[in-house]
Amino acid sequence: MSQSKITRSSINRFFNRMPLHLAVIGLMLIWLIPTIGLLVTSLRPVQSINTNGWWMVMAAPPGMESYNQYCGECHGPDGSKIETADLSDPAVIEQYPRSIQLLGMLRQEIDGQPHMGDLELPSAQEAADIAAQLKKMAGGEVTPRLTLNNYIDALVGYRGTNNYVDDCEAGAQAAGMNCNISDLLNPRGMGRAFINSLIVTIPATILPILFAAFAGYAFAWLDFKGRYWLFAILVGLQVIPLQMTLVPISRLYAQLGLNGTFWGVWLFHTGFGMPYSIYLMRNFLGTLPRDLFESAYLDGASHWTAFYKLAIPLAMPAIAALAIFQFLWVWNDLLVALVFLGGKHPVMTYQISNMVSSLGAGWHLLTAAAFLSMLLPMIVFFAFQRYFVRGMLAGAVKG
Ligand code: HEC
Repeated sequence: MSQSKITRSSINRFFNRMPLHLAVIGLMLIWLIPTIGLLVTSLRPVQSINTNGWWMVMAAPPGMESYNQYCGECHGPDGSKIETADLSDPAVIEQYPRSIQLLGMLRQEIDGQPHMGDLELPSAQEAADIAAQLKKMAGGEVTPRLTLNNYIDALVGYRGTNNYVDDCEAGAQAAGMNCNISDLLNPRGMGRAFINSLIVTIPATILPILFAAFAGYAFAWLDFKGRYWLFAILVGLQVIPLQMTLVPISRLYAQLGLNGTFWGVWLFHTGFGMPYSIYLMRNFLGTLPRDLFESAYLDGASHWTAFYKLAIPLAMPAIAALAIFQFLWVWNDLLVALVFLGGKHPVMTYQISNMVSSLGAGWHLLTAAAFLSMLLPMIVFFAFQRYFVRGMLAGAVKG
């Protein structure tokens, strides 16, 4: 009897949780599919991106089929059946590099007869596939399924019509390219921008959290006059929109010579990161047991000792959560970087926004650039996701 009860209740539980599971799977797919699409697209050669969607990446190249259907009968499966028109001869195929030329040739008559006899001519798309297939049979270069060219182009900031690797091989050094690894860090590209983003983000993450840890401890465990008022002001500061301060601060920076320097952005992000960080640190430290600190003080511990021996180790989850949020915020920030750094030290978001406007047609580069800029946040997120969830709760549960 009891056996069947257990079974029934577990079945019930399974079905009760179904909607939740489905929702989670749905959310996961909503996130995963575009991400994979972006990754796959960024790895495909431009020609393929322009031909079909990323989900076709594993589809068989259509050329073989079309060739057999339209041409195989007379020219043979490997193209060498008619000796006077050997399709595996590169010299013959070189004359018809494009589908238009191929179609034109097929329309011409041979000995007063239509080239293809009573067969129908292939469509433009099929002709393009056949042209690719002919190139393959003649041992010529075929466009690969996947390539790193988009990434290389994005990293070096290549602005030409071909691609960086080919141009370098063709000896286009005259066009101002170095064509070696040092070009990866030239100021036009995402490579340099990646490093600039790191230079901006790391101090802009560490500094506010460091100060917030000190201030949070002070607000939680130091008894000083006016601390409630100060804390209330701090909470109020969080509502000030960042945009409001752009003009006064950039004028101040102009006087101090900080415009266009990393110091400027570090200070700005530190200033704007602090109110929330202090608020969160104070709340977190304030919930630690009072006895712990009091017994430490009784044992003769100074505030400094209590801070770095007790408070910091215990507050690690809060610090990690803060670090993740601040990191993501600064990494994805465009406004502050644009106003205070601009093109002087371009960061990734700046470079990407440049690509959108100046390379309307070159969005294969954009996919690669976007993925490059996603990479680090994704690593950070997956490495620290435990803290991520806890951090969200830390802000929400204790007020
Ligand atoms: C009905 C038979 C037949 C079919 C079908 C056919 N060909 Fe041909 N093709 C010929 C013959 C015959 C020649 C002429 C050989 C010669 O000139 O000696 C020829 C010549 C050629 C040549 C050489 C032209 C040159 O400039 O020398 C090419 C390229 C070629 N065919 C491509 C194709 C392609 C691509 C297809 C399929 C879309 C195709 N042919 C379908 C019979 C055919």
